[in-house]
Amino acid sequence: MNEDHKLLLEALDLASQRKGYTSPNPAVGAIVIKEGKVLGRGFHWGTGSPHAEVEALKNLGNEATGATLYVTLEPCCHFGKTPPCTDLLKSKKLERVVYGFIDPNPIVAGKGGEILTQSGIKAKYLPLSEIENFYQNYAWWTKTRKTWLTGKLAVSKDGNVCSSNGSPVKITGELANELTHFRRNQADVIVTSVATLKADDPRLDVRCGSNVIRKPVWVLDKQLSFSMECQLMKTALSITLVHGKSASGVKKEKLKSVGIECVEISEVDSELLLSELAVRLGERGYHEAWCEFGPRLFSAFTKNRLFNELILYQSTQVEICNGRRAFEEERGWVLDDYRIASEERLGADVKESWVLK
Ligand SMILES: NC(=O)c1ccc[n+]([C@@H]2O[C@H](COP(=O)([O-])OP(=O)(O)OC[C@H]3O[C@@H](n4cnc5c(N)ncnc54)[C@H](OP(=O)(O)O)[C@@H]3O)[C@@H](O)[C@H]2O)c1
Repeated sequence: MNEDHKLLLEALDLASQRKGYTSPNPAVGAIVIKEGKVLGRGFHWGTGSPHAEVEALKNLGNEATGATLYVTLEPCCHFGKTPPCTDLLKSKKLERVVYGFIDPNPIVAGKGGEILTQSGIKAKYLPLSEIENFYQNYAWWTKTRKTWLTGKLAVSKDGNVCSSNGSPVKITGELANELTHFRRNQADVIVTSVATLKADDPRLDVRCGSNVIRKPVWVLDKQLSFSMECQLMKTALSITLVHGKSASGVKKEKLKSVGIECVEISEVDSELLLSELAVRLGERGYHEAWCEFGPRLFSAFTKNRLFNELILYQSTQVEICNGRRAFEEERGWVLDDYRIASEERLGADVKESWVLK
């Protein structure tokens, strides 16, 4: 790994600290280096806050002259909520700027790099797969205005997801659980169903050591049968119920009065039109939604190619006698439109990452 590669990955670590908290802006990290010494580090805190480049350079005067900036995303060149970063980099007389992703936002899209080159700064685009993965949901949202949907399902050794009476069963081990909390943390929003809330009463927050972080949670709930007695009332940052036209107006008013938002989507054949979900989430500027629900919705999403990515935890130990099958149909058929992108052993579980073909 050469020095540029290593330093861009360090900038990526900084960006990772805010992934899941900056939307509609992307999470960005930056490091300023001169003669092998780190002069500054920064990341973008969130919309309306200074960009990562500004944070990394904020305490630097003349010493920044001739330095190199490593930044995960191409510097912006337009006036948004903050002035163009390219102006700042010029005024600081940097010698080089190395960036890991061309901003897909059409008002930047290569122009940031060009402006730097024209002003005599050596601008280098260094593509890295880690950074490409990091920004895939931002790039998807920028292109389609839809939120990237990641589905998670834990499957027992004998192919079940829960007991036949719906009572929860612990399928995954500690390592898989840690990964789930990491992915919840990096997602902008969590999606579940009212059926899963009724069966499991999950918290759906992020627990990392002693830290507990609450995230916005959207619940698919066609008839607004949500119960205000559930744990989510305390553990979610906000609750949004996604319902159909047939939901009662009285219930809606009651829910609204306690701060629960209701969003209506279309119904087709008495089912919610699930393809509208990513559009509604996208309108809020969310780049990624982490979806945790049961086999009915999971199958409906995969059949309709609605997940961009699937995480399946396959247990090699836990069995659920007479449980409910993970997939309504045979797994191969339901996942016909997906392929395994990677497989990783996590203790007694195997994590499979599936992506659309
Ligand atoms: N192993 C795991 O990783 C995991 C994760 C989460 C949950 N679970 C388990 O899964 C079980 C719940 O699974 P489930 O299959 O009963 O429920 P689900 O898949 O979580 O949700 C199904 C519900 O979603 C609603 N829905 C809205 N639009 C839909 C559509 N277009 N197609 C299908 N459903 C739609 C339906 O409500 P309406 O009937 O009102 O239309 C339906 O009751 C629980 O026992 C829980 O423990 C397991």
